[in-house]
Amino acid sequence: MCGIVGYCGPKNSTGILLDGLKRLEYRGYDSAGLAIQRSGTISAVKKTGKIQDLRAVVPPTLAGNCGIGHTRWATHGGVTDLNAHPHLDASGKIAVVHNGIIENYVQLKARLVAEGFVFVSETDSEVLPHLISYYYEGDLEKAVRSALRQVKGTYGIAAVHADEADRIVGARYGSPLVVGVGDGEMLLASDVTAMIAHTKQVVYMEDGEIVSLTPDGFVMTDIHDKKVNKKVDEVTWDLDSIEKEGFACFMEKEIFEQPDSIARTLSGRLDAEYATGKLGGLNMTSRELLAVKRVKIVASGTSWHAGLVGAQLIESVARIPAASEFSSELRYRNSVVESDTLYFAVTQSGETADTLYAMRELKRKGARVLGICNVVGSTIARESDGGVYTHAGPEIAVASTKAFTSQIAVFYAFALMMARMRDMSFSAGLKYVKGLQSIGEKVGETLKQRDRIQAIAKKYCHARDFLFLGRGLEYPVALEGALKLKEISYIHAEGYSAGEIKHGPIALINEETPSVFLVPDDSLREKVISNMKEVKARKGPIIAFATEGDQEVAEIADETVFIPKIDELFQPFLLVVPLQLLAYFCALELGRDVDQPRNLAKSVTVE
Ligand code: AGP
Repeated sequence: MCGIVGYCGPKNSTGILLDGLKRLEYRGYDSAGLAIQRSGTISAVKKTGKIQDLRAVVPPTLAGNCGIGHTRWATHGGVTDLNAHPHLDASGKIAVVHNGIIENYVQLKARLVAEGFVFVSETDSEVLPHLISYYYEGDLEKAVRSALRQVKGTYGIAAVHADEADRIVGARYGSPLVVGVGDGEMLLASDVTAMIAHTKQVVYMEDGEIVSLTPDGFVMTDIHDKKVNKKVDEVTWDLDSIEKEGFACFMEKEIFEQPDSIARTLSGRLDAEYATGKLGGLNMTSRELLAVKRVKIVASGTSWHAGLVGAQLIESVARIPAASEFSSELRYRNSVVESDTLYFAVTQSGETADTLYAMRELKRKGARVLGICNVVGSTIARESDGGVYTHAGPEIAVASTKAFTSQIAVFYAFALMMARMRDMSFSAGLKYVKGLQSIGEKVGETLKQRDRIQAIAKKYCHARDFLFLGRGLEYPVALEGALKLKEISYIHAEGYSAGEIKHGPIALINEETPSVFLVPDDSLREKVISNMKEVKARKGPIIAFATEGDQEVAEIADETVFIPKIDELFQPFLLVVPLQLLAYFCALELGRDVDQPRNLAKSVTVE
């Protein structure tokens, strides 16, 4: 999952492309490169490392009104300058940047080598400039179309030719691509963050579309050379929302945004008059919602954890059987789709390939799949049968935080809506609505524990392993806490149901392995306290997150962080936030790159 960007217009494209790549860096940061077109030549510069490393080697004289850029997340071929994009053909006249995987590149490469083409990199993507030059007869768009007809796999590409001034040809199949419509200038990028400084007028490309850009406009066609009419959308957020606004990094900013982002997600979705949840955009009648007999959720990573909370809520609150499945597993499992089962595809980016393909597989089988997405206009949002935008605002840090609390907030509203259509009373509904409306403020209070949590992180961040333990709704939160710590601090951490550790993981307990217990004041508190005592008995250090005033827990644990009192149903909101902070401060203490952890990328657009 790389980031690609293109610009053609009256300005010097070099700086615009470098700034655009900086905005896309969260998509992959192994290496980066540019290809700038100028007076019949292509100048390419590429470098391993981050955009600042590329910026450092771009000659100040490198200028031109048209160019393309790339930031890489390596899939095929190591992290080297040669494997960095753009890739050029032998004549040096065609340059291509690619996001995706060419699955049949070995066969294509063998054919081209037999034709005398010479390859210099280990990448799959390098077949593209050679294939395009193989078909090139003076029209870059035609050559790109002919080349792509040979390609199997996924791609978002941008290409330029030295002889075709001020023209960029782009194409999309499986990887996101957006056109930016400016005033006398045009842009192309993997997502709108790379172009919002120049325009808010965007066109989302669909699979199979090919675009030809010149400064005056764009022409969209499909792989069969048929013209495609496209609508221009308006981006609703602005540049500020993708700035750090005084925080040390995006993750810290996004953690502290949650009182507002949760309120934004719930805004207009709680109906006190009918004491219910209100979710526009599902494209379902009340009768169809009432006929739902089962709910299944497909997602990956943090979104899957949000799905686990959602499934428990839908079952316990709305009394509808529900489950959350890994997208990557469901896609190939030949699962049984029943007509009265409603599916949700949950995804922050809306571009995660595993979830996209799982959704397409379910839809192929006749399922109704609704999306819960954060990125407006993303592929999963556009291809789903309806759904809900979480409105958490752009999430830039690779480790997802505010998107998680917004995703579960949507599930809380959905479970309420379905429950009030079944056997939940008006008064119970009203209590639930009031509980949800108090979340933002309670999360604000919980964030005041930052210094306490930072002190604990400083003390324990040198541990080699951590266990995160919770029961009921706190089990998925424990999984999420472990994932956050793994992702950004690189400490091995395992989330587990507290009731399950005696069936094996307790063997890991020793004086060097801290156990993080989620033990709020709820119906499972006593059970969790017994599990804490089992760990204590084996001298395992305990960090407990408990409800304020719970001295019994504080006496057992080595460290205790108190969260405000709240109805047990809503505790996941108040317990995940301190775990996000614990991971953040451990990573900070260990000097990690918190926003861009090694080996990861924000949106995983390959399988
Ligand atoms: C979470 O911090 C990670 N970035 C990752 O696990 C992520 O949740 C997963 O890749 C799914 O992404 P999505 O929500 O954009 O589909």
